Amino acid sequence: MNQRVQQDIDRAADLILNANYVGALTGAGVSVESGIRPYRGPDGLWTEYGEPPMDRYQQFFSDPKVGWDKIMKGEMFPREMMSKLVETLVNARPNDGHYALAELENMGILKFLITQNVDNLHRAAGTTNLLEIHGNLYKLRCMQCNSRYEFGEISLQTTPPICPKCGSTVKPDGVMFGEPIPTDVLGKCQEETSRCDCMLSVGTSALVYPAASFPQIVKRKGGSLIEINAYGTDMGSMCDIAIEGKSAEIMPVLLGKLKLQLGR
Ligand code: APR
Ligand code: ZN
Repeated sequence: MNQRVQQDIDRAADLILNANYVGALTGAGVSVESGIRPYRGPDGLWTEYGEPPMDRYQQFFSDPKVGWDKIMKGEMFPREMMSKLVETLVNARPNDGHYALAELENMGILKFLITQNVDNLHRAAGTTNLLEIHGNLYKLRCMQCNSRYEFGEISLQTTPPICPKCGSTVKPDGVMFGEPIPTDVLGKCQEETSRCDCMLSVGTSALVYPAASFPQIVKRKGGSLIEINAYGTDMGSMCDIAIEGKSAEIMPVLLGKLKLQLGR
């Protein structure tokens, strides 16, 4: 790790320790060291297979039965992509970046974590105040009352599955292109961001809204912004500190520095 990065990590630790309400926004980059490909950039899934149609949700909404039939047949994404992705997801385990973020929460430093990832790895690493703004692959969600269910809780014998609470249609919890962010999780993200005075943006291209708005809101209201990204982003120029590096390498060093400064 070069001296510049080490100094940036030291400065980041100071900003974090001087803040009152630290939050994090993460993206696909934090799961790369767990074997899950990102969406954009040289090894991105969308780079290779193209982005899904922007009206995917509208198509699903217009005929959930047809939508579910496509899901059950694995036809929502290119077959080759699906088979590779399922294999990596099944084998994926949290990496040191996930664990470092969970420990920062444990230490009372990190107050919330908004993730755009649907891979459940932050939860598996132990993060509890976790806001999964794009949903969770392993869950279902009612399109009416937002109740969420584990896949095993509702029979998929007949599709579309029906919400046991309100009788409406249930869909995969993962937010589809064109789908509004569920109001419950969006409201929590906005509430936490309004209290945040220091945000870590880790492993995200910060291109997709509303998630990308949260670091900007923190910065605009006078908070500090620390980016950790393997290749840098356009948002880097507005950050107080932009650390170029892999999150599984940088986050543990940052954690160690914070522990040292706190005498823990
Ligand atoms: N460590 C840290 N950052 C990394 C690493 C790594 N090992 N590898 C890649 N990155 C960075 C890339 O430089 C890029 O900026 O992670 C970012 C990944 O960006 P995207 O692939 O665009 O993923 P993300 O930002 O999560 O995308 C947001 O777009 O398609 C939607 O719903 C999808 O939630 C996703 C959203
Ligand atoms: Zn319901």
